[in-house]
Amino acid sequence: MRQEDVSQWVKDAQAAFSAATDLDSLKAARLAHAGDKAPISLASRGLGSLSPDEKASFGKIIGDAKAAIAQALATATEKLEAERDKKVLLEEVVDITLPVNRRHRGGLHPISIIKNEVSDFFIEHGYAVAEGPELESGWLNFDALNIPADHPARTMQDTFFVEPVESGMVLRTHTSPVQIRTMLTQTPPIYVICPGRTFRADELDATHSPVFHQVEGLVVDKGITMAHLKGTLDNFARHMFGPDVTTRLRPSFFPFTEPSAEVDIFFNNRWIEWGGCGMVNPKVLQSCGIDTDVYSGFAFGMGLERTLMVRHGITDMHDIVEGDLRFTRQFGVGL
Ligand code: FA5
Ligand code: MG
Repeated sequence: MRQEDVSQWVKDAQAAFSAATDLDSLKAARLAHAGDKAPISLASRGLGSLSPDEKASFGKIIGDAKAAIAQALATATEKLEAERDKKVLLEEVVDITLPVNRRHRGGLHPISIIKNEVSDFFIEHGYAVAEGPELESGWLNFDALNIPADHPARTMQDTFFVEPVESGMVLRTHTSPVQIRTMLTQTPPIYVICPGRTFRADELDATHSPVFHQVEGLVVDKGITMAHLKGTLDNFARHMFGPDVTTRLRPSFFPFTEPSAEVDIFFNNRWIEWGGCGMVNPKVLQSCGIDTDVYSGFAFGMGLERTLMVRHGITDMHDIVEGDLRFTRQFGVGL
């Protein structure tokens, strides 16, 4: 082993390391010039067979050479790692401003959202949700509600009759028949809410639709008064329109309530009719077999489209019924 050989090994190693173009080729160079079988390693292991004098002088030469090789390897590693990191940053860069191909998950129509909101509010207050069919008997839609045969609401103008007309079936014009269905099948105390689809032979215009939604409320219990009705409507209105909303009961007429009222809300600086309400007419309670000496009740019915329009400043009913996604999406998915 000659000193020139050792120097040559160091030069070879330095040349190989700096010639490496990436970490893989550097690894191959490292195995060749600093690995177990590299000349410097073999020489290092051969030191043991030398005389003590030779061992001392060659030991230093080999130690220095190993240090120089290790230094060259470290320098090359550092350089190639930095290059790799830079490349990765460039190649794997993500442009977070690019539009993505998102799959729409679908969502609820704003009417469904508000329907659920109303139901949740009353369920929290101990009410049950009642349901009835959209194709209803004329008897439940009118007669049982004390709407006599000559009442204007019974003319062909307002009601969709169903063939054969002798069937006496109609598309329900309001959710009030569910009051009757409930009172015929349950005994007081009764606390129910009934949201549902209703139909009237009205032209589609800015404020009317032939198919719309109402939410009916019915309470029958001992000692129920108009004050309970007013308190319930106040709470309901505050939940739907915010804490500052005011309600007003305006005397009105419905055959199935006595006394009857329109409930108005003061919202955005004006009074708006929200729905109808009143104390359930004792005649209606009696025809459902409820003892009016013991029980009294109140009922109310609101338009859900009306509620949505007032709350969100929607000025045209067409927006609600046409199903344009640009309108619907403004209300979020609501799932
Ligand atoms: C009724 O339907 C009564 N059944 C309400 C009631 C229930 C009174 C319980 C007393 C006790 P009215 O016809 O006013 O009342 O309708 C109630 C609401 O339904 C109206 O205030 C309005 O918001 C809505 N509405 C009625 N017709 C339409 C329509 N064509 N399009 C959209 N909303 C309508
Ligand atoms: Mg009305």
